[in-house]
Amino acid sequence: MKFFIDTANLNEIREAAALGLIDGVTTNPSLIAREGDVDFKQHIAAICEIVQGPVSAEVTSVDTEGMLREGREVARVAPNVVVKCPLTRDGLKATRQLTEEGFKVNVTLCFSAAQAILAAKAGAAYISPFIGRLDDIGQNGLVLLAEIIEIYRNYDWGTEVLAASLRHPIHVVEAARMGADVATLPFKVIEQLMKHPLTDKGLDAFLSDWKKSGR
Ligand code: E4P
Repeated sequence: MKFFIDTANLNEIREAAALGLIDGVTTNPSLIAREGDVDFKQHIAAICEIVQGPVSAEVTSVDTEGMLREGREVARVAPNVVVKCPLTRDGLKATRQLTEEGFKVNVTLCFSAAQAILAAKAGAAYISPFIGRLDDIGQNGLVLLAEIIEIYRNYDWGTEVLAASLRHPIHVVEAARMGADVATLPFKVIEQLMKHPLTDKGLDAFLSDWKKSGR
């Protein structure tokens, strides 16, 4: 399972890249907005300088023509840019067109298996089911992830399943057990994955025993 980091914060991206754990980056308009008054394309370019793998940059138009214009522009920023389009009628049309022009598209805001089938049929490079946001409304997001992986295994569509909106390590472990192609993680979740209280306790005990032994 590939690990993408779900952030537009350059410090977090640098730190995750330094850890050697990151294969790509996903951003969205909310994450970019959180970085303040940055220029969108320059910021995506800065991310692409840190990470060589796929970097998703989302369009903000709601009509196909606008998505195509924005998608073509942002894809010119760097060869590893993936255009992110929402799972709407216009987004699917834009996905098909951008894919035919040779761009990679990450179809985002997927909340049903039916939507995931359409994204694959439109030629998406990635489908992003939002696990945590389904949990937030009392549905089990991991059930959706399992359904999509099961359906995609029946065909040769070439669309990778990118588990998104992951909020804690259980989401990540379950996505890996199911065989998701990619998990995109906030920096906080990457840190949570490393931590275990018994690791800290065990290390403290080893170091204290070592010191006591006078070495
Ligand atoms: C994915 O590409 C999205 O940016 C992201 O995972 C959304 O996560 P959230 O629901 O925690 O905002």
